[in-house]
Amino acid sequence: MTAWFYDHLFTHHPGVRGLFADHLDEQRDRLWAALGALVSHLEDTPTLVDMVRKLGRRHAGYGALPEHYPAVGASLIATLRHFAGDAWTPETEASWAAVYEVVSSTMIDAAAGEPTPAV
Ligand code: HEM
Repeated sequence: MTAWFYDHLFTHHPGVRGLFADHLDEQRDRLWAALGALVSHLEDTPTLVDMVRKLGRRHAGYGALPEHYPAVGASLIATLRHFAGDAWTPETEASWAAVYEVVSSTMIDAAAGEPTPAV
């Protein structure tokens, strides 16, 4: 799934390839581990917001800009849709899009040093 995600992202947005290390194996593990950690803390808002804000501040250091977030979100949702098969519904897609919007706007606000509204 992770390989498919990066192939999708770099095919549709080749400009972001240079932000990532040439060799992505370790990165692949960390990104999907983070998604698992986010999902497992969905009921624990303070921990979740703290994790996401720290992640957003680190991303400023990786060169991630606000305009990159929709590109990553589109590839993430395309990946989930591709692998979910028949389990994917319009409701599933709307839920993931809503979660990605909250996570990405929290990361962007934290990177800009602005207060983050409650999730
Ligand atoms: C919800 C959105 C995102 C999540 C959950 C996420 C997650 C992660 C995680 C867990 C890491 C590992 C390092 C760390 O924990 O600090 C990472 C690294 C990285 N992310 Fe993201 N990310 C997201 C969005 C983005 C966006 C929009 C970009 C910009 C194109 C981006 C670019 C990078 C880069 C360049 C690295 C470092 C890669 C390297 O070391 O080569 N990420 N990301």
